[in-house]
Amino acid sequence: MKKSALLLSVSTVIVSLALVLNCGDKNESSSESAAPAPSAVSAELSPELTKGKEIFMQNCASCHGEKGAGDGAAAASLNPKPRNYKAPASQWKNGPTEAGVLKTLNNGIAGTPMVAYKFLGDENLKHLAKYVVYLNQN
Ligand code: HEC
Repeated sequence: MKKSALLLSVSTVIVSLALVLNCGDKNESSSESAAPAPSAVSAELSPELTKGKEIFMQNCASCHGEKGAGDGAAAASLNPKPRNYKAPASQWKNGPTEAGVLKTLNNGIAGTPMVAYKFLGDENLKHLAKYVVYLNQN
């Protein structure tokens, strides 16, 4: 009796171990197959630029356009027009550099619809500035 009870509990352990291991395998393979998708989407952008792009799409594209060409949905009714990021540096007030864009985002441009975006926080502004410079150069 005791022997068979022991055998039963040993086989129970083996079966549940096998289930757990099998589960682990499944989880691993599903996370493996899910992994390539996000990296393929952002293949050309670094993580920093990807983050900058996200914030830009949420806060800036309505005026500046998805590619920063100054042609967002709200642009038509604005005066002055939102900056086209492809415009030469001479047409920028603070310049298409990270430092220039940070100055614009921290202070806004007085008397225009370009308000300050300090509330987004330094970290997000840094990502945004990098992305605006990227759009200027690409
Ligand atoms: C309500 C519309 C609007 C939104 C939203 C907006 N902008 Fe602007 N932005 C403008 C306008 C208009 C100008 C042009 C101001 C001028 O000519 O003085 C401008 C100018 C700029 C410039 C050019 C500064 C320079 O040196 O000349 C940068 C960079 C910029 N915006 C970045 C951003 C970023 C990044 C966001 C999102 C956080 C954003 N803007 C959101 C309207 C907008």
